[in-house]
Amino acid sequence: TGYITYDEGFGNTGSCQSEISFINGEKGILRYRGYPIEQVAKKSDFVDSSYLIIYGELPTEEERHDFLRELIKTCNIDTRMVRQFEAFPPSAHPMSILTSMMGSLSSYYPELSTNDRVLDLENFDRSCASAISKVMTVAAMSYRISNGLPINYPKKDLSYAENFLHLMFSSPNDEYHAPKEVAEALDLILLLHADHEQNCSTSTVRMVGSSGANLFASVTAGICALWGPLHGGANMGVIKMLEAIHAEGDDGSRFIEQAKSGKSGKRLMGFGHRVYKNFDPRAKIIGKACERLLEALGTEDPCLEIARNLEKAALNDDYFISRNLYPNVDFYSGIMMRAIGIPLDMFTVMFAIGRMPGWVANWHEVASAPKGKINRPRQVYQGQVERDLPESYNRR
Ligand code: CMC
Repeated sequence: TGYITYDEGFGNTGSCQSEISFINGEKGILRYRGYPIEQVAKKSDFVDSSYLIIYGELPTEEERHDFLRELIKTCNIDTRMVRQFEAFPPSAHPMSILTSMMGSLSSYYPELSTNDRVLDLENFDRSCASAISKVMTVAAMSYRISNGLPINYPKKDLSYAENFLHLMFSSPNDEYHAPKEVAEALDLILLLHADHEQNCSTSTVRMVGSSGANLFASVTAGICALWGPLHGGANMGVIKMLEAIHAEGDDGSRFIEQAKSGKSGKRLMGFGHRVYKNFDPRAKIIGKACERLLEALGTEDPCLEIARNLEKAALNDDYFISRNLYPNVDFYSGIMMRAIGIPLDMFTVMFAIGRMPGWVANWHEVASAPKGKINRPRQVYQGQVERDLPESYNRR
């Protein structure tokens, strides 16, 4: 059937044509719809940048108002879904809960998930807002329920980040009011994760969407892909690594040697990127924001000191330099989330909340492509050559 090119891990394969985000790995450039991430991070917020990523332009005042109204309208979940939470064992990982609950949206909102492209596109504004708002509600409710806490409901007058913090931390007689720095820091974390070209989860969303599957099914597949430690699980990995280094009384120098030797599979979590080979522009922004947040909160985190040591050591070490390994966005996002009070096992969930606009936009690009070709890669077969079943073998 012709010659098949093998490209391990799709390192050099353009899997699609896209207009959403642009990355230049050598120069450390990331743009959302043409706008440099530095400008977006400085002047925009998560809601506007979600709109930009999904609809291609920044919203006008009226469009922002309508988008926010749709987010508020769709942020609650069907009460039967609330009961579904109770079926999970108390030890269930929040990512497992999130994948199941987001997957079940198709059962509760069948009109938004028909698998008929024309209908699904007609209802896109509603399903898009539902995915972005419900992922936040489901995430916070799963935390409340798995900790035996009463659930909270979103409020109209709060921003997206404030609402999430309220859902997580308010209790019936003690409402949580997020300090400004905390809400802003969370908004920035979400904004910086909002889209990132054809990473593992986004290309999964496109793969699933290319079969004609609805938005909820496709983004759920993306959440599953994100769960792995080499992708969205890395932010949790960073904190676990820093805590382990701290517990061993190491200042980071012993760990660096272990990560270089590759012994016991240790890697410097939060370092390295498939595409960025000089620096991750998101890491630069978030590194500074992390310092600002800890200063504002007066948090003294021994892990931050270790992170600084690791960063300094790695940036001056031939092993890391020769392999173009630099801090990525996860290196500091974990420290910030810890300071905000988000539990460790929710870190990857936070990444999923942030990445939802990118997944939604990529699904929409696939679903609205005029030709709509199904994604179907080939393989390089390395198994047995043709052979006959043994004479003696017969199950019939
Ligand atoms: N620590 C130590 N060595 C490393 C690391 C690391 N973090 N990352 C790569 N290497 C080494 C690797 O061992 C290999 O060495 P050698 O050539 O001697 O065999 C070389 O660098 C190339 O590594 P690779 O695994 O072939 O590179 P990749 O492009 O396939 O992997 C990566 C990219 C991000 C999966 C990898 O760098 C990694 O595992 N980093 C740690 C996990 C992490 O922080 N992930 C978050 C990525 S950013 C957020 C996201 O998009 O999800």
